Amino acid sequence: MITSTTKILGIIGDPISHSLSPVMQNAALVEAGLDYVYLAFHVRPADLLSAVDGLRSLGVAGFNVTIPHKEAIIPFLDRIEGDAAVMGSVNVVKRDGDRLIGYNTDGIGFIRSLRVDLGVDPMGKRAVILGAGGAARGGAFALAAAGVSHITIVNRTVSRGELLATELAESFPKTQVFVAASDDKRVGNELSASDLLVNTTSVGMKNVGTHEFDLSGLSSRTAVYDMVYIPAETELLRHARSRGCRTANGTGMLAGQGEEAFLLWSGVAAPEGIMRKTLDRHLARTC
Ligand code: ATR
Repeated sequence: MITSTTKILGIIGDPISHSLSPVMQNAALVEAGLDYVYLAFHVRPADLLSAVDGLRSLGVAGFNVTIPHKEAIIPFLDRIEGDAAVMGSVNVVKRDGDRLIGYNTDGIGFIRSLRVDLGVDPMGKRAVILGAGGAARGGAFALAAAGVSHITIVNRTVSRGELLATELAESFPKTQVFVAASDDKRVGNELSASDLLVNTTSVGMKNVGTHEFDLSGLSSRTAVYDMVYIPAETELLRHARSRGCRTANGTGMLAGQGEEAFLLWSGVAAPEGIMRKTLDRHLARTC
């Protein structure tokens, strides 16, 4: 029951109506018997500062931050912790007294999903990342921090890949980084030597076009992760499965980052498996 002492959690983003965080977080809060409610707030970029000040004044316990605010919110917070400081990207804010502290749980959610859903421990592995935007940045930093030996960044716009490679090299000098344009002939060789292929682009979602990456080098020894989860099986994952690869979509990463956020806010571990189960059920019903 929602009462006058119920604590408020939520998510800010633009757009926000597609967000699955309210469904999975509220399911976990109910299961854990915690007196919180989790809501979605549509916040446009021009309103970000006033929204953060409002959430602060209203005393919300914490909130998630999604596109396009993950970097822009940083100057409006009081402190940035851990992965969020390294990556320059915040997906969780927690209130601590009067202060708002920024965290990033995307990386931990991604690495946990690789382990659980694909059986991949990144330590010493070779990874190919498709894309060089915000999601690629998060994925590449998480993989480097988890000890991959090589990262190849493949992107349509090669200059964006180079920028990401420079940032990675500054934070993780031991990781070998190679950059290629999507149409670079060397991508096939990089793929055939890789243990892991990760799609971070929106290609594969409805109406976002198709992959122009050469996937002919893909063999069954490469595990393939697609951060997209609608549809549940993208063309990339279908292709990879037909080649005998282990595959997983981004549902596990979404649940994993949510479980870490839940723990940060409430101090209690999220009930095991509830977020993932809720997401799978919801996606099966609506997609
Ligand atoms: P996000 O924060 O979700 O990563 P982003 O920063 O806008 O979003 O990055 C989108 C990524 O998807 C980029 O790597 C983009 O490639 P460009 O840098 O060349 O734009 C990639 N992307 C989007 N649509 C694509 C398409 N149709 N084919 C190939 N890559 C695409």
